[in-house]
Amino acid sequence: MNPVLQSDTQSLDALLSAALDEASQFLRAIGDSDARPVLPSALNVPPTSELPDAGLGTTSALARFRERYAAALTGSAGPRYFGFVTGGSTPAALVGDWLTSAFDQNAADRLGAAALIENDAIAMLRALLGLPDAFNGVFVSGATMANFSGLAQARQWLGQQHGVDVALDGLAALPAAPIVLSGSPHSCIYKALSMLGIGRAQLRQIARLPQREAIDVSALRNALAELNGAPCVVVANAGVVNTVDFDDIAAIAALRADYPFWLHVDAAFGGFAAVSPRYAHLVDGWQQADSIAVDAHKWLNVPYDSAMVFTRHIDLQVAVFQNAAAAYLGAPSSADFVHLTPENSRRLRALPAWFRLTAYGRAGYRDIVERTCALAQQLGERIEASQRFRLLAPVRMNVVCFAPIDGDVSIAERLARIHATGKAFFTPTIYEGVPAIRAAFSNWRTTPGDVALAWEALQA
Ligand SMILES: Cc1ncc(COP(=O)(O)O)c(C=O)c1O
Repeated sequence: MNPVLQSDTQSLDALLSAALDEASQFLRAIGDSDARPVLPSALNVPPTSELPDAGLGTTSALARFRERYAAALTGSAGPRYFGFVTGGSTPAALVGDWLTSAFDQNAADRLGAAALIENDAIAMLRALLGLPDAFNGVFVSGATMANFSGLAQARQWLGQQHGVDVALDGLAALPAAPIVLSGSPHSCIYKALSMLGIGRAQLRQIARLPQREAIDVSALRNALAELNGAPCVVVANAGVVNTVDFDDIAAIAALRADYPFWLHVDAAFGGFAAVSPRYAHLVDGWQQADSIAVDAHKWLNVPYDSAMVFTRHIDLQVAVFQNAAAAYLGAPSSADFVHLTPENSRRLRALPAWFRLTAYGRAGYRDIVERTCALAQQLGERIEASQRFRLLAPVRMNVVCFAPIDGDVSIAERLARIHATGKAFFTPTIYEGVPAIRAAFSNWRTTPGDVALAWEALQA
């Protein structure tokens, strides 16, 4: 054995303790902007292609990591990283994630406990989200892949309507290119359509309700009628990134009485409305969807990368994702994840979610959703009362979408000043043509004190 590897192997416990120290130090500083700015300044170390010949050993590699990169890690795991929709990891999820690496199971088949853990975690998620057992679920790397996986099944279903097996014969065997309809599709839907060979241009954006990001269902009905009975795909949105608006999913599902379409719901973070009696009505009707994408690394607060795709059509899922050609992997079976997901070999992503759900349960999770929504509301109230900013939309759940009242300074410049305080991080957007700022609350650590600090930063 290589002597450096041998020495590392002998001191594995000490190395794991050093990693624990590193992680603890990082996490202790995560909410303290004096110790660690939420958005650090750019790295001033030159890139290197230097590959050590003999290898440094893990202790020296850790020292080099610290010296080169550690100061430039963002505070994305912390309480005032309000950009995008960023979760952060609960203690239980972190424990699950560390163990996932230590156990290093290949969650592709039925061997060992991996499949049982994944099926149990999915069953708990169905219970948490109020989804019927008819939905089969699997873990994938993020909502982009969850949407991709749902839309891949939609493509297969479209083929079936024309008597074509797209998985076998390809899209070229279809009489016409698939049509996809949606009101406020997330950018990753276009990416998924590109990856699926359907094409970004096949998405027809349907009119939205006035001053809303929710689809106008009567405009959708008209668009469906114009297809003259041709089957298509509808992507409904449960939680649009700018304003957390929700399509009326029940009304969309009801249109299937008159028009043939596959209903996919992108519920990347909005799906968690289901856990709170205050918000659950927002996802009414999603139980009737054909497929649903939900992220875990956003509001479920597990580490990257993790999401779930749920489907009512496991047969189509197997048709798309079956890995049939290799005799050594056995015959395709819906009990093996290798035949249900885009990957073959895959990490045991279910374990962090399993820990998180088991440790904090339904009540613990509802608390995070309701608390983060209340904090978003607090920031919204400060903005409404201020002379400097205005809300562009009501704070529906966990995102505040707002704009400066005076437009003298660009949003980019304003955000640069805010981020230079080190206190908070926000991302820009454009809402109804107005350049704006978004603050998304989805981290369990955030407190009212953090809202006060964020507000201070916004005055910069
Ligand atoms: C509604 C929605 N869908 C899909 C995505 C893509 O998620 P991911 O980055 O996890 O792939 C996001 C990310 O913000 C989102 O908000």
